[in-house]
Amino acid sequence: MPFLSDTLSRVKPSPTIAVSNKAAELKAAGEDVIGLGAGEPDFDTPQNIKDAAIAAIEAGKTKYTVVDGIPELKQAICAKFKRDNGLDYTPEQVSVSSGGKQVLYNALMATLNPGDEVVIPAPYWVSYPDMVLLAGGTPVIAEAQLQTGYKLTPEQLEAAITPQTKWFIFNSPSNPTGAGYSREELKALTDVLMRHPQVWVMTDDMYEHLAYDGFEFCTPAQVEPGLYDRTLTVNGVSKAHAMTGWRIGYAAGPKELIGAMRKIQSQSTSNPSSIGQWAAVEALNGPQEYIASNNEVFRRRRDLVVSMLNEIEGMTCPVPEGAFYVYPSIAGVIGKTSAGGAKIVDDEAFATALLEETGVAVVFGAAFGLSPNFRISYATSDADLKDACSRIQRFCAGLS
Ligand SMILES: Cc1ncc(COP(=O)(O)O)c(C=O)c1O
Repeated sequence: MPFLSDTLSRVKPSPTIAVSNKAAELKAAGEDVIGLGAGEPDFDTPQNIKDAAIAAIEAGKTKYTVVDGIPELKQAICAKFKRDNGLDYTPEQVSVSSGGKQVLYNALMATLNPGDEVVIPAPYWVSYPDMVLLAGGTPVIAEAQLQTGYKLTPEQLEAAITPQTKWFIFNSPSNPTGAGYSREELKALTDVLMRHPQVWVMTDDMYEHLAYDGFEFCTPAQVEPGLYDRTLTVNGVSKAHAMTGWRIGYAAGPKELIGAMRKIQSQSTSNPSSIGQWAAVEALNGPQEYIASNNEVFRRRRDLVVSMLNEIEGMTCPVPEGAFYVYPSIAGVIGKTSAGGAKIVDDEAFATALLEETGVAVVFGAAFGLSPNFRISYATSDADLKDACSRIQRFCAGLS
């Protein structure tokens, strides 16, 4: 009898975490490494949020809480959905977990049966397909292309849907491309979904507040109210409030689904950290001004990285609407050989040679389901970004 479960053999470890670990290892060994792999803001959590957490500790709010979120946080989440998205939810329609990651996992665990399909646009956040596999479902990948700004077209969505489709996972602005769908682009997708009443929508709005150049963020249930009864709207405090380590994510949707997710959570992790929840109340109810000032920094870094990468022959980098990632295509360098003698047969070989020969850590495109590309997270200092992009330029200039 094998000790490890068959489920485990269906999934792979997160490649983005693997890159961060490898970069940290090289750094610890004294190498001059710039890590552009991590998916988290380099800003510190705002002081008012830290103070709320300290106050919670001092007030003894350190015990188990209700499984899927304290009433104060659920109220703050309902107010956020109304304020930012024009969506009406009641506290019984809200679930709070240890990060958006657990919210998505709970929802898939609570709904997927063998044979159920989940449509995932590529390039995708690395965890979606593996979470679907862990939950016993079948991921169906619909590839978006560089030519459409890495956005899925309505025709591509239509072609991916079958009678077995249970969910469509939507993520805008996207990890890994930063692509954000306009209201019209999203409406074209929701029109397709209206023709397929068996398909539910899991919208991952984690990067809602990280958008630039006046981009108007929209979420499916807002653009098409006809989808409200079959949409799970997922969000969290990790990215916009620089709270990745606090582990608070949340979702709102139909009561029955929220109840099923609560059941999964009650038998696995119980409540997310009580202190994190009180910090999230402050994040959602407190001042929001730092979001705009952080975004100004992110936009400047995005422009710097995009312009430096587009100077490279063989590389094409679209200007993304949001998040803190760029996803250049390297179609023009495949088949070349690096100055260090590495044959660039694919994007993984490119990322490996880049790390070994220049000390710049990026994540290769195959990890996100669309090649040949790589992802840069520009949530790091301007100086490091400039240095890293110069090293990438030199590396590419040395290809022959
Ligand atoms: C698209 C997307 N969704 C969800 C998450 C999960 O965020 P968290 O679990 O920190 O809330 C991430 C984090 O990288 C992400 O990029």
